Amino acid sequence: MLEKNIDLNGKRILVTGAAGFIGANLCKELFRSYENIHIYGIDNMNDYYDPKIKNDRLREIYDLGGNFDFARGSIADKELVNSVFEEFKPEVVVNLAAQAGVRYSIENPDAYIESNIIGFYNILEACRHSYDAKSVDEHYAGVLHLVYASSSSVYGSNKKIPYSVEDKVDNPVSLYAATKKSNELLAHSYSKLYGIPSTGLRFFTVYGPAGRPDMAYFGFTNKLVNGEKIKIFNYGNCKRDFTYVDDIVKGVVNVMQVAPFENENGVKYKVYNIGNNDPVNLLDFVDILQQELISAGVLPEDYDFESHKELVPMQPGDVEITYADVSALQEDFGFKPSTPLREGLRSFAKWYKEYYC
Ligand SMILES: NC(=O)c1ccc[n+]([C@@H]2O[C@H](COP(=O)([O-])OP(=O)(O)OC[C@H]3O[C@@H](n4cnc5c(N)ncnc54)[C@H](O)[C@@H]3O)[C@@H](O)[C@H]2O)c1
Repeated sequence: MLEKNIDLNGKRILVTGAAGFIGANLCKELFRSYENIHIYGIDNMNDYYDPKIKNDRLREIYDLGGNFDFARGSIADKELVNSVFEEFKPEVVVNLAAQAGVRYSIENPDAYIESNIIGFYNILEACRHSYDAKSVDEHYAGVLHLVYASSSSVYGSNKKIPYSVEDKVDNPVSLYAATKKSNELLAHSYSKLYGIPSTGLRFFTVYGPAGRPDMAYFGFTNKLVNGEKIKIFNYGNCKRDFTYVDDIVKGVVNVMQVAPFENENGVKYKVYNIGNNDPVNLLDFVDILQQELISAGVLPEDYDFESHKELVPMQPGDVEITYADVSALQEDFGFKPSTPLREGLRSFAKWYKEYYC
């Protein structure tokens, strides 16, 4: 196990994508678990999916009554990013803002280059210049740790499973994946050149209450409720390492407290997988989802599920399996995701019932 070298109590923490699914859950967990923490959130509140959910997530953060500032704006706006860094002087930065989604990147490449490449570059530059601030404020040592979201999609068409951070990942099959892999490369060069300690986290299919409506489990639920057919890709021969959002947040919080030391190449740089390490076949997943939707009263007891299911071929950009090797996470933090799928989907179904029905 690695020793913690950052005490989050009393820290100023910048969270980009704070109104997002993972970002909002992270902010809430930080306020609940640490004292005197000051969080600055940035989010452009875009309408890639219903912004009402984003507003509701923000309200839940405010309701906790912690020291929370928020700027509605884009990390691709260099002036905004620089002014937040200059005024707020973050000690830990968690970059979760991104244009997510694999399929959307086929139709809307601009959004990915803007948020995931230019936006991330602005964050790196601001981290770099945070060290200049030392000369004018002796109490500010600059950014102690940059933690940023990568994705399991960087494994692309890798055949070897489980996916390990030691694997070569030069085969992205979507622009989204290519931008996430680029983030890791950019972070590496900035860590090497300017000593920014950085950790990239490859998240594996994250789900849970108030999750992303663009993701399969949420879209399936909407369709089933409306009596529409759901499309199950690759005729159901797909496996995903579904990871419950609380496990992801626990992982992020663990990682935030350990800024990497210099590795053998003199770089303060790490990348970890955070996934459930237990891939589930899509048909089994849908079966459990349906049972939990019935238990929560989202669907009626006698729902004719079979007639609402359509098996279809693979979509461009998709991969057949995602499966995380989390041994590095376990070794360094003594932690791995552990929420059983049924339990996680039960929480989602209960939330859906309260929110929509
Ligand atoms: N949810 C998953 O399964 C998953 C898997 C792998 C990686 N990730 C990554 O984790 C991070 C968080 O994902 P999420 O599921 O919470 O997604 P999300 O879309 O709910 O959250 C991202 C937030 O960033 C905001 N945003 C987008 N572009 C922005 C910009 N240019 N400036 C400021 N804000 C911007 C969005 O409005 C959104 O609220 C993303 O980087 C995503 O790529 C998520």
